[in-house]
Amino acid sequence: MHPTNDPTDTITVNGAMKYFTDIKVELEEITVLVICEALKSPTIGEFARDGFIDGWKALGAETLDKQRALVPRLRKSIQTDQALFKRVYRNTFLLARNPGQKAVALDTAIDYWNLFFRNSSGLIWNTAATPWLDWYIEYVQERWKKTVNRDMWNMTLEFVLKSTEDETLSWWEEAGAWPGVLDEFVHFVNEKREKAGKMEVE
Ligand SMILES: *[C@@H]1O[C@H](CO)[C@@H](O)[C@H](O)[C@H]1NC(C)=O
Ligand SMILES: *[C@@H]1O[C@H](CO)[C@@H](O)[C@H](O)[C@H]1NC(C)=O
Repeated sequence: MHPTNDPTDTITVNGAMKYFTDIKVELEEITVLVICEALKSPTIGEFARDGFIDGWKALGAETLDKQRALVPRLRKSIQTDQALFKRVYRNTFLLARNPGQKAVALDTAIDYWNLFFRNSSGLIWNTAATPWLDWYIEYVQERWKKTVNRDMWNMTLEFVLKSTEDETLSWWEEAGAWPGVLDEFVHFVNEKREKAGKMEVE
């Protein structure tokens, strides 16, 4: 990569694709999002010169060889460092929006939830008695059907962490600070559980 001296210079999608190949990162892996966060990418697969230089400098990897050598550690760290995981997840909202939009398209959000919560990040949103991610996707597709704003994006992760810890939802409070969409999801989950309970009895 040979950035010019123009500070407004951006490395755009094609260049970024090639760059990820050069440092041996697959385009579908979550490591792309870790790197985009570290380099303050304005959108997926686009780097601004300053973010690129400063980001790698902060990671102590100023040459292509060092960057490539650091990749396995970045890939691992998203699975072990919860603070990093949260940062990368939250930043992904900014990357996933279409330019000029305040919210993320539902299908796009679902693609990213699949990426974050099906173990590529080390986290699986699925507990002994509850296929959370499948139910959440079913719920947003069939009932919510709208875009995903930043509050919903952020609070989805909080909900994922809490429900993974305790699937009984004993921590849940209707009057809590959860957005309405998650209140409704809890009702949806309770409906599912009731139905499953009835089926067992029959
Ligand atoms: C989740 O991913 C990790 C790391 O790739 C792997 O070691 C582990 O076996 C996976 N767990 C499941 C349940 O698939
Ligand atoms: C979502 O999280 C980001 C990062 O912590 C924060 O800056 C932002 O204010 C949060 N937004 C909402 C609406 O919760």
